[in-house]
Amino acid sequence: MGTSNAIFSSILYCFLLATFSSAGPFISDAVLDSGASTGRALLQVKKACKVDFENKNYTILTSQCKGPAYPPDVCCNAFKQFACPFTDEINDVTTDCSYVMFSYINVYGKYPPGLFSNECKEGVQGLDCTHIK
Ligand SMILES: *[C@@H]1O[C@H](CO)[C@@H](O)[C@H](O)[C@H]1NC(C)=O
Repeated sequence: MGTSNAIFSSILYCFLLATFSSAGPFISDAVLDSGASTGRALLQVKKACKVDFENKNYTILTSQCKGPAYPPDVCCNAFKQFACPFTDEINDVTTDCSYVMFSYINVYGKYPPGLFSNECKEGVQGLDCTHIK
């Protein structure tokens, strides 16, 4: 009986974890990691992103988050302002959206690799987009 309870708890835990990670206005850490790693995403076959990240306006990000200091509070906030409207798309690991988005962010902003995954750390759910307009 103890065993089946443990199994049930694990299943419940996984379910809750899955629910949390897919729900709500958060940008998961996995998304940020995809910005840090350059090759890994290409090894998997992903659906092409439906968001046209090539032609987005990156000014809100690049005008605020600047080197050489790249202050984390400024940069993470600016990143959220840019990325939060696309949480559904970039959290969807079956697409290459997060990879494509970070590619263009790094092109337009000339940011060091992994800048946002290194600087932006919030809760276990990732970056909170709740209060971002
Ligand atoms: C991009 O957004 C900024 C404000 O965030 C605005 O001033 C600028 O005109 C926009 N550029 C284009 C091409 O829409």
